[in-house]
Amino acid sequence: MSIWTRMYRWLDLRMDISGVWRATFLHPVPIDVNWWYVLGSATLTAFIVQVVTGVALAFAYVPSTEHAYSSLDFITRQAFLGSVVRGLHFWGATAMVVLILAHMGRVFLFGSFKFPREVSWLTGSLLLLLVLAMAFTGQLLRWDQDSFWGIVVLAEQFGKTPIIGGVLAQLTIAGQQVGGATLTRFFATHVFLIPAGIFLLIGVHLYLVVHRGISDPPQPDSVVVPNVELERYERVLATRGVPFFPDVAWRDFAASAALVLAVLLLSVAVGPPAMRTEANPTIVNTNPRPDWYFLSYFALLSLIPPEVENWVILGVPIAIGVFLFAVPLVANRGQRHWSKRPWAVAAVGVGLLAGAVLTVAGDRAPWAPNIDAVQHGALPPSVTAGLDTQQSAGATLFVRRGCWACHTVQGTGGLAGPDLTFVGDRLTSDQLTTRVLNGGRNMPAFASTLTPREVDELVAFLRTLKTKR
Ligand code: HEC
Repeated sequence: MSIWTRMYRWLDLRMDISGVWRATFLHPVPIDVNWWYVLGSATLTAFIVQVVTGVALAFAYVPSTEHAYSSLDFITRQAFLGSVVRGLHFWGATAMVVLILAHMGRVFLFGSFKFPREVSWLTGSLLLLLVLAMAFTGQLLRWDQDSFWGIVVLAEQFGKTPIIGGVLAQLTIAGQQVGGATLTRFFATHVFLIPAGIFLLIGVHLYLVVHRGISDPPQPDSVVVPNVELERYERVLATRGVPFFPDVAWRDFAASAALVLAVLLLSVAVGPPAMRTEANPTIVNTNPRPDWYFLSYFALLSLIPPEVENWVILGVPIAIGVFLFAVPLVANRGQRHWSKRPWAVAAVGVGLLAGAVLTVAGDRAPWAPNIDAVQHGALPPSVTAGLDTQQSAGATLFVRRGCWACHTVQGTGGLAGPDLTFVGDRLTSDQLTTRVLNGGRNMPAFASTLTPREVDELVAFLRTLKTKR
């Protein structure tokens, strides 16, 4: 016996390695399991990519408002392979979200969540929520203007939830404003709290996959009857069962390898998201947009008219919650094949379509501040001509403080707020001052970021915006 064999024997006698191997890899699975079944293991592979690259990033990242941006900038530009590691982490996140949704879609349409696999679905639902929470907390860690304000906008939208909104927003951003405390809280949540939950749930999820087995692909006449389902499945395994490894597992390995390759290619060819400028809580001249995972929700909340806002803010999470946590418990028996479940197919179709349309709308986002207007333009000469010193100082502030990114003046600027071309006709100096200091429903308050003199200058400028000057 070689020394390796002897060492293995020694360990095996004490740790039962071969028993664990037999239970996890050699357990029988239905022979007709096909390519649709690789999505779950591919999600797991994406998660492993996230853990490895995340640990690597944490070695150089500093979670403080002074150093977050510069440390990430260092990682991106100077650290050995830093840009590739950041790219892997970013594209790995994208892959993970796409795969987990695809996996859930497959499980739902195949009726694989029905008895006895309801708990697998429930742990999967929790995993989906945790993955989205990772995406949310990760974006702020970039600490550049776009991602910073993207989180501010989302947190403001949480804040509109009836009754619990205030508490929810405070809890999320750790205080009244997004700042140093928020960054610390997001960092701890992103690297310790949520990953711990994910590891735990993946453990339960995989335990169930091994112990309750992989569902056989549904036939048009497949019906789940809880009393006899376990027996039926035993018969399937007895007649059409093959060991998971290697008969079925090779597809999982092939898909995971293809996934890692794709993520690697994207991170080399496209790279991580560009870091434009360091986050600055006092200037809104940016594109406050969440990463793509949240664009649809962002679009939805921005597009709904204020009267129905409360219904949507409560209704959408409730609908998603019912789908994730109630449907599998209620609809855990009966038909499995999609051809016999038109409502299930319709629900997935409508969900996909709505998600796609809203994501595109969120990407275009004509209602969001228009950064290009601020960075690459000047107010039209007809607006700035003939202003006195105070008024033209106000005109400069109007551009530099980001007002122009949200407000149109004579056809230039953003569309997030009302057109201010003739605001001087509508509002008095007092009204303008109040508005600038207090903000509004979708306008930030500037009381803490502008000096009284600057407010006067801005108001003097706004008063010149009239039909007759
Ligand atoms: C993030 C986008 C955004 C920014 C930045 C912004 N505003 Fe607004 N503003 C709005 C929105 C939206 C409204 C109207 C609805 C509301 O109350 O939220 C508004 C309303 C106003 C109004 C009232 C208009 C009317 O017709 O009643 C004035 C005046 C105004 N803003 C001036 C400013 C000034 C000055 C600045 C810069 C210091 C500024 N805004 C920055 C979005 C913005």
